[in-house]
Amino acid sequence: MNIQWYPGHMTKARRMMQEDMKLIDIVIELVDARVPASSKNPDIDTLAAGKARMILLNKYDLADQARTEEWEKWYADKGFFVFKLDARKSGQMKAIVAMIQEACKAKIERDKRRGIINRPVRAMVVGIPNVGKSTFINSFAGKACAKTGNRPGVTKGKQWIRLNKNVELLDTPGILWPKFEDQQVGKRLAMIGSIRDDLLDLSELAVDFIGFMTKFYPGILSGRYDVDEKCDKIELLEQIARVRGCLLKGGMLDTEKASKLLLEDFRSSKLGRITLEFPER
Ligand code: G4P
Repeated sequence: MNIQWYPGHMTKARRMMQEDMKLIDIVIELVDARVPASSKNPDIDTLAAGKARMILLNKYDLADQARTEEWEKWYADKGFFVFKLDARKSGQMKAIVAMIQEACKAKIERDKRRGIINRPVRAMVVGIPNVGKSTFINSFAGKACAKTGNRPGVTKGKQWIRLNKNVELLDTPGILWPKFEDQQVGKRLAMIGSIRDDLLDLSELAVDFIGFMTKFYPGILSGRYDVDEKCDKIELLEQIARVRGCLLKGGMLDTEKASKLLLEDFRSSKLGRITLEFPER
């Protein structure tokens, strides 16, 4: 989490990804279901050209269910195989493996026609930091499956996890970078906690978040903090500070502390299941 990307990091990550792409049939991209667009890497479509594609809407337990379903349909319409996921939970492996095989059907058929039978499909997990890649690999593939160990030839140095006799997963995920240029993307990633708070103006972020909440999830802030949602956003933050006793020495309101508290409540789903962006209609 909280990787600071520099052009050098990105070049290296991209190069590694290009190498790994040669070994695999399907790219499994994890996105955060609360920000399914902002947590998606802008360059992966080029990097993964010609591969089967799967999107896991992860942390779905924290996201608005109705919106997750809209996103599921949106990505499916774009040709992705889509799965809603709480990566911390086990028990979803069978369904995911079945989807991987379905997504790679064309390749399996092609192999068959060439007389190649029972060659396992190879998959790789990718995603920006903090979307749950390691959690997914651990709970999905972790103890239950045997590692295949290094193989000679093309797979030298790579560890594969055998999910069943037909599917293998590269044990290290590909780390992608977010779309930095877009300020909205940065803000939304900051709201979900994927950018270090000390790099941010928390009060500004909290005020934006309040604006979003009163518009799209009316009633939630007033319900939790007993504030008046009709008042100005900055005033509303001050009300939260007052209600929650966030005070500086001398009794001044500590809006920085209130901002932290508000964003923490959102990140830990104390405000309920919330999604910060809609698919384009
Ligand atoms: P990464 O490899 O993509 O960088 O992400 P990682 O697996 O480290 O997950 C980042 C954080 O997200 C972890 O929390 C992890 O527990 C949490 N997480 C992963 N998948 C899910 C999910 O589906 N739902 C929810 N609610 N959380 C998920 P952490 O606080 O950084 O660590 P920890 O407290 O779990 O140790």
